[in-house]
Amino acid sequence: MAYQIAIDGPAGAGKSTIAKKLAKKLEYIYVDTGAMYRAMALYFIRNHIAASDKKEIEAACQKVEIEIAYKNGEQQVLLNGENVTGFIRTEEVGKMTSAISVYPAVRQKLVELQRTLAAKNNVIMDGRDIGTCVLPQAQLKIYLTASAEARAERRHKELVEKGGNPVLEEIKKDIEERDFRDMNREISPLKQAEDAIFLDTSHMGIEEVVEAIIKLKR
Ligand code: DC
Repeated sequence: MAYQIAIDGPAGAGKSTIAKKLAKKLEYIYVDTGAMYRAMALYFIRNHIAASDKKEIEAACQKVEIEIAYKNGEQQVLLNGENVTGFIRTEEVGKMTSAISVYPAVRQKLVELQRTLAAKNNVIMDGRDIGTCVLPQAQLKIYLTASAEARAERRHKELVEKGGNPVLEEIKKDIEERDFRDMNREISPLKQAEDAIFLDTSHMGIEEVVEAIIKLKR
């Protein structure tokens, strides 16, 4: 059976940075499930479908095909055949994603794809419900988190480095809103799986976290 590592946690905890590094070290594939939800959200934005319009969202799910490919070891996400990897990291898409990821029609479709990928490969998969719902049999589950302050500061630094002029308090408010929605939705809310290991990275460096997880795998 393929080896599965599930990493769940709130926005900005460092899941994707850590998971990418781990995947390289272990020669596993990295599956960023948030990117799949983001590609779906992009479809709804482009087609002017409101996050509140459950009927339209359900109907649209039939027309959306999401695929994952790898280019130079980096995950690419395809929306109806178009590589949309470069368009999904905006705040607008992030907010829409959190709002549309509450719908069963959206989740069912993507969970199926995630399970197919994990059945064929040794994977590190990150998201919100990987340990609790997508891969309950995963051999190693990590719940990766950090304080809202630490996560907001990291995001702020990232945006400043990209040349932006973000307001720290606004970022923190957005993070807290997103946490609340992701943790309180009816289906597959973000929560620590019973058998997951809790890692608070507020005061840890990236390499330190990677090494801690590798040790846990042995
Ligand atoms: O990890 P991320 O920021 O790319 O995720 C964007 C949103 O997608 C997040 O706010 C909630 C949703 N999501 C989810 O519901 N389940 C997942 N497995 C991954 C992401």
